[in-house]
Amino acid sequence: MCGLIAYVGTVDAQPILLDALKRLRYRGYDSAGIATLSQGNIHLCRAPGKIEALEEKVALNPLLGTMGIGHTRWATHGLPTEANAHPHRTEHVAVVHNGIIENYDTLKKSLQKKGVVFTSETDTEVILHLFDASLSKGNSPQEAAAEVLPQLEGAYSIAVLFAQYPHTIIGARHGPPLAVGRGENGSYLGSDAFALGGFTDEIQYLEDGDWVEVMDRSVTFHDRDGLVVDRPIVHSHGVMGPVGKDGFRHYMLKEIYEQPSVVNRVLEAYVHPTQGTVNLPIEYEDLKDVKRCVILACGTSYYAGLVAKYWLETFANIPVEVDIASEARYRSSSLCKDCLCIFISQSGETADTLAALSLATQTGCQTLSVVNVAQSSLDRLSRMTLFTFAGPEIGVASTKAFMGQLAVLALFSLWLGRRKNHITPHIEKARLQGLIELPIHLESVLGQAQDFQTMASHLYEKRHMLFLGRNLMYPIAMEGALKVKELSYIHAEGYPAGELKHGPLALVDSHMPVVVFVPSTPLIEKVISNIQEVRARGGQIFLIGDENSLSKLEDVAVSEVKIPGVQEWVTPLLYVLPAQFLAYYMACLKGTDVDQPRNLAKSVTVE
Ligand code: M6R
Repeated sequence: MCGLIAYVGTVDAQPILLDALKRLRYRGYDSAGIATLSQGNIHLCRAPGKIEALEEKVALNPLLGTMGIGHTRWATHGLPTEANAHPHRTEHVAVVHNGIIENYDTLKKSLQKKGVVFTSETDTEVILHLFDASLSKGNSPQEAAAEVLPQLEGAYSIAVLFAQYPHTIIGARHGPPLAVGRGENGSYLGSDAFALGGFTDEIQYLEDGDWVEVMDRSVTFHDRDGLVVDRPIVHSHGVMGPVGKDGFRHYMLKEIYEQPSVVNRVLEAYVHPTQGTVNLPIEYEDLKDVKRCVILACGTSYYAGLVAKYWLETFANIPVEVDIASEARYRSSSLCKDCLCIFISQSGETADTLAALSLATQTGCQTLSVVNVAQSSLDRLSRMTLFTFAGPEIGVASTKAFMGQLAVLALFSLWLGRRKNHITPHIEKARLQGLIELPIHLESVLGQAQDFQTMASHLYEKRHMLFLGRNLMYPIAMEGALKVKELSYIHAEGYPAGELKHGPLALVDSHMPVVVFVPSTPLIEKVISNIQEVRARGGQIFLIGDENSLSKLEDVAVSEVKIPGVQEWVTPLLYVLPAQFLAYYMACLKGTDVDQPRNLAKSVTVE
């Protein structure tokens, strides 16, 4: 996943490249580098670690030139060292790459037989040497692109700079997106519209298989057969301005606090202002023959899908399967024409989710994406889109985007239930009221931050922990465990409370903390029995519940936090907030990098 940028124009390239790399760091932050071209020489600077390290380095030795390429890396092949950082260069060519070249080993061996010496462990370096070899035969950059690209297998987007061609950058896309922008001072190539924000809001996306010649004043697109083609211009409307922390210590904390506003924005967009009914910008006509829903997503977005399964089955009486996109993409048999496939994604660029969308499209399913980023690949490629209105999410750990996903999926479930006549207008309004009141309750839980900090102080030094919940709380238990894993590097698992006795109970002893989400629901007595099973083995109980549920569990917990009672169906939106707070404060107490945890990236654009 990595982010790339290229610029060719009339002003200094270095500040433009660095600015874009900062926007792109959500794609990876293992290392960063830039290369510029002036007077026939390629100048290179790379640094392991975050972009600030690169900035410090180039401040001492600025790179000259009005064209260049840049890269921020999430390591796939090779450690995050300077040698493995992009751009990779020879005397004649420099290249940056996002993706994986699957046949790199074969290509590398063949190049090595011809005497090429490799200086990194990356798959990217084969691209570099293939271009170099092609140029050394006298080919132009365009001829080299036509010769090299068909040899590459896998998923990639690349930008290539040529020492002898001071006006041309070649870009190519096979899988991960690549966008071209034209501004006053020149032309740009970037991993997405986000990279190009601030320079231009007129974007053209390469289609899969396209390659492009980017020059100061012109851009020429070629399709996979080399034919010159045109690609539509889309406007990104300033979605991409810089995002600050607004006085919060971390982006994640700021984003946690934005969640009541996210729910309000979703309600404003999708609830009829006077009738008080769900009003979505999609046609039921397109969905009336649907017999089954298949929800496909990854990570936190997958857990949003698991919550939606309960809602859709209850309100719309439709069977729902939820699958991890990286698994589903290789199981075509699970899809059929009368399926509605729902794709959930913050970024809209997750490679596995996009691959699942492509499969669903080929199968002839109806496709609906629930995405945060407008103009993302999922938005552009699926038949219908519902936006989550979370705004830019910078923290790698997803918080407000999950809240937006749940709010949209909640409304979609009510909408479908009404259209299918499975729920009455009265039920729709009554349930909707629960969601309309939710932001007030979210605000109230935000006011309890200190309580979660106290609970976190009991947990942050542990090596393992369990999260338990039943029914709608089961996905929230898994989401809580994921947040703790990614932020605190503590091994955590989320389990359905009733499943513990089928194995995981063996893990429980006096060292095992067990966090239980226990809202007042018809299943409360069952959850209480599960809590007693843990207590009987000496497990340390941490409770998050409401007044009624906690009154049944006196003197049971090491620590507990009481949060407001809400309609049962909206409990996932409320209970995820304590899970986020807990993980956040555990990470702060542990001293980990909250906004950019190790080994991760915000957008996972490789398989
Ligand atoms: O952009 P997406 O929603 O498609 O991303 C999916 C996952 O990579 C993402 O939710 C990931 O699990 C988060 N870092 C979790 O906090």
